[in-house]
Amino acid sequence: MKVKRVEKNIQTGAAEVLGILSYETAPEKVCLESLSGVTLEDCRRFIISENFRAKAGSTVKIPLSVDGLKYVVVAGLGKEEEADEDKVRAAVFSIVRAAAERACETVLLRAPGAEGAMRSRAVAEGAVLGSYRFDKYMKRDGDDRFSPVQSVMVQDGDEQALRQGEIFAECQVYARDLANEPGNVINPVTLSCRAAALAEEVGLECEVWDEKRIVEEKMGAFYAVGQGSANPPRFIRLTWTPGDKPEGHTVLIGKGITFDSGGLDIKPADYMVTMKGDKSGACAVLGAIRAAALLKLPRKVTAIIAAAENMPGGAAYRPDDILTARNGKTIEINNTDAEGRLTLADALAFASELKPDCIVDIATLTGACAVALGSTTAGLFSCDDELAGRLLAASRSSGEMLWRLPMNDPNLRKQIKSQVADIVNCGSRYGGAITAAMFLEEFVEKGIPWAHIDIAAADFIKEPYSYYVKGASGFGMRTLAAFLAVQ
Ligand code: BES
Ligand code: MN
Ligand code: ZN
Repeated sequence: MKVKRVEKNIQTGAAEVLGILSYETAPEKVCLESLSGVTLEDCRRFIISENFRAKAGSTVKIPLSVDGLKYVVVAGLGKEEEADEDKVRAAVFSIVRAAAERACETVLLRAPGAEGAMRSRAVAEGAVLGSYRFDKYMKRDGDDRFSPVQSVMVQDGDEQALRQGEIFAECQVYARDLANEPGNVINPVTLSCRAAALAEEVGLECEVWDEKRIVEEKMGAFYAVGQGSANPPRFIRLTWTPGDKPEGHTVLIGKGITFDSGGLDIKPADYMVTMKGDKSGACAVLGAIRAAALLKLPRKVTAIIAAAENMPGGAAYRPDDILTARNGKTIEINNTDAEGRLTLADALAFASELKPDCIVDIATLTGACAVALGSTTAGLFSCDDELAGRLLAASRSSGEMLWRLPMNDPNLRKQIKSQVADIVNCGSRYGGAITAAMFLEEFVEKGIPWAHIDIAAADFIKEPYSYYVKGASGFGMRTLAAFLAVQ
């Protein structure tokens, strides 16, 4: 899909759907700018008869037939003083969705404040996400008219911001598509092939280590997680190097468990569905480095994925095993379902050796995080206030909610003390998201600013809302890209 800027006085007949964003108001005052004559009167009458007030999240779809214009769709932004970028994203999404569901290919958008960069970025993101659907494995049913919108024209948009938003959302679509693929399609090996294809597509360096190399590289914690599966693990590293001298180096690490059965501590059936989504951190990181390359960001970016499948095969690692991670620390296993932190431990130790300016990992790590924050806000953990602040700012600009949780409770830290090794992989239920973060901290070299984002449950949408449809959300990808872009 293409998103482009057009002048304000463009003819409405230029598109099949005219989408208008309006602030909340009385029906007779709903914004219908750019309409005139009979069309304006018809739309006004329709809106009044529907008692449409442009509340946030509401839309009205008015069928018409003038000069190729088939629908006017008005989407509410709510009260002007409360309307933020995320409401813009959601409103544009619903307009484009309405068009896609009616097989309309072109949309002309009129959004208040579109000339501002932040607004334009949000408009473009909502537009691209509006056409998203994961339907490649599904036969079409007879009355399904869904067809992705081809072109969205934004009146008076900021060209550069529209381009950025378009890239961000396309990369989110990339992350969603990959995360939606099931475990029988994406395993560690096929994930590494996708990463190599991405590197080829956008110009990244790519290095993949197989299981033999992983053992040679002393990644004993990561390797153990993959042992129970017939699909061997892969260590994936992608690098974006800008043309000019790089303005610093950021490492992103994504949890890449292609399926999490729990291992020998096997999950109950109800908790195992959606565990194809346990690679969502990896998908977010791939999407973010894709955006960095497409936008030719001036900073060096490394993406690391320690990809494994957590299965209970005969060679599986077991409770009571003691593993040695790359940084020499020994880990007692008391639960094979706390596998993500083991793969991340070796990835963090490796990342530390690259001596970057900062490391950010993103992972579907703990159900406890979802219990604490719900499934639409992710947890942020960092001992570095400055880094945490920058990530929170990026999250505000992307609309992906992040909430910082504490790392300073010495009593929680006691829970990951082991009697037989340097550390144990799992604490008690209480504070489970925090003890997981404290575990990760043990594998980051002191002095390197590090942050951890726990996206458990936020990775997978069960009930559609705002600009999210059922399935993989791609959550966190745009926040990471925004974080990279403003540094
Ligand atoms: N991948 C899961 C976490 C998860 C839960 C992601 C729900 C998405 C939705 C992780 O590997 C896991 O199993 N965590 C355990 C940790 C426990 C054994 C300490 C959990 O959260 O129950
Ligand atoms: Mn698990
Ligand atoms: Zn997991």
